[in-house]
Amino acid sequence: MAIERTFSIVKPDAVAANNIGAIYARFESAGLKIVASKMVHLSREQAEGFYAEHSERPFFGALVDFMTSGPIMVQVLEGENAILANREIMGATNPAEAARGTLRADFATSIDENACHGSDAPESAAREISYFFSEEEICPRTR
Ligand code: TYD
Ligand code: MG
Repeated sequence: MAIERTFSIVKPDAVAANNIGAIYARFESAGLKIVASKMVHLSREQAEGFYAEHSERPFFGALVDFMTSGPIMVQVLEGENAILANREIMGATNPAEAARGTLRADFATSIDENACHGSDAPESAAREISYFFSEEEICPRTR
């Protein structure tokens, strides 16, 4: 399996709860390397654009409200099978259904405030990484 990159967010609930470090520790202990990272506070326009695929869903307005409610951490994770690996670290969208030991089981409070985001496919990973980071902001990890 080739080295892959995925895009990840520590959402406003988890930043507010001071869980940035605990979540980053899960990525690192699973062997994923952080190759870009920054804190941002999304505008409504940025949040709507990021979640455009969900614009017709009933929860879209609440999702944008939540994602703009405070700062988030955005990061690029690199490693073997990184997209699927990160989805496994995160657990199911609804924390009530998330497996024990996953980020959403341990840090999320509800399906709409669920602590983290992770790309779900190579195409979304490429789109989401470039939505937040230029190529110069990503630091390939050679050691
Ligand atoms: P989705 O892409 O289905 O989940 P995931 O984040 O696991 O890829 O949905 C995007 C986000 O939208 C989800 O993390 C939280 C929010 N959401 C709700 O608030 N209510 C819902 O019923 C669903 C499906 C999602
Ligand atoms: Mg999704």
